[in-house]
Amino acid sequence: MRLGSLTLTSNLFLSPLAGYTNLPFRLTVREVGGLGLATTDLVNARSLLEKNSKALKLIESSPADRPLAVQLFGSVPEEMRDAAIQLETLGVASVDINMGCPVRKVCKVGGGSAMMTELDKTAALVKGMVEAVKIPVTAKMRLGWDDQNITAPDLARALENVGVAAIFVHGRTRQQGFSGTINLDGIRAVVEAVKNIPVIGNGDVTTPQAAKKMIDDTGCAGVSVGRGAFYNPWIFLHTLHYFATGELLPEPSFAERVRVMCRHFDLMIEVFGEEHGCRMFRKVAPWYAKRFGPANEFNKQVVRLRSRAEFHDLLENYLRWRAQFCDDRGELLPRFQPAPMVPSFLRTEEAGSADDPPSTRRSAIPVPSGPVEVW
Ligand SMILES: Cc1cc2nc3c(=O)[nH]c(=O)nc-3n(C[C@H](O)[C@H](O)[C@H](O)COP(=O)(O)O)c2cc1C
Repeated sequence: MRLGSLTLTSNLFLSPLAGYTNLPFRLTVREVGGLGLATTDLVNARSLLEKNSKALKLIESSPADRPLAVQLFGSVPEEMRDAAIQLETLGVASVDINMGCPVRKVCKVGGGSAMMTELDKTAALVKGMVEAVKIPVTAKMRLGWDDQNITAPDLARALENVGVAAIFVHGRTRQQGFSGTINLDGIRAVVEAVKNIPVIGNGDVTTPQAAKKMIDDTGCAGVSVGRGAFYNPWIFLHTLHYFATGELLPEPSFAERVRVMCRHFDLMIEVFGEEHGCRMFRKVAPWYAKRFGPANEFNKQVVRLRSRAEFHDLLENYLRWRAQFCDDRGELLPRFQPAPMVPSFLRTEEAGSADDPPSTRRSAIPVPSGPVEVW
């Protein structure tokens, strides 16, 4: 798969997840395999230019963390341009622009000709960046403000005209937030709006079948996975295997999940130090635990995590506690096994309702708290 001048080994991408897609998580996913390109959390362009320590920490990388895209956020053309130049100098492989919903203000007051003005302004900002660097510049957007204002196709076309190398599109509107179904027709409309650049579909991809369905139904060139990679850092590897062979690999074993979680934890401490790394891991560990089966005991302890020693103690305690839900071979008894993940756009009527027992109910992917308006 090509992204402008960049050749990627797979068409699978890690979506930016502010607060999560830091160096330790990117390295963890890369070690598991299958990922084409990872993106950082969004970084404020001005903070980067001011060499703000938090912004510099967000772009911290290592030789194993390649190829890497940095996502920039900002509305001042000169700052966005200069930040892109700075990133190119640092060896970053591509720059992604967080588009949020650039016509938001306009959509709110009913659209009209002002919408095109806003679109032109955005295109001019992007043009300045594209002309200033050789690395690919990409854009990430939602479908639009609401169902009456699906602006992504127009925006994608305008951005292709000024030289962006790819468009990432989350198949929901701003109004939807993270609820409702991914709109595959909406993603298809973006694919059809551009002539030569790849469009990468995004939203609710938690299984290899979902990735295939998104590509088959929309014609998108690749898929970007955010929250699904938290439940399942194996999603990239398993999806590539599924694309190549049509075979679905079994879900990783509990032991393998624990091994990868521990590796993630070690990297967290390596990059952020023991105290801060542990604090950050408090919100990461429960995502792994979502596929552990019964995990109350683990979750209760891990939210207070303060040290490496504590982590290993609580893990040992948890393994002992979890044994009551397992058979003689240490496998979870069927009634305690987590229900299979079913993405919003593959859900059927039979997929479960609120009246079903929790073990068979299939729910939406949880959304961690944070500034949804910029996601
Ligand atoms: C906690 C969280 C943080 C996010 N941070 C960003 C961000 O920094 N930049 C961005 O463009 N999108 C961000 N998003 C949106 C995701 O990149 C992605 O578009 C969205 O979660 C849908 O994909 P998914 O269902 O695979 O998670 C964030 C989403 C979540 C849940």
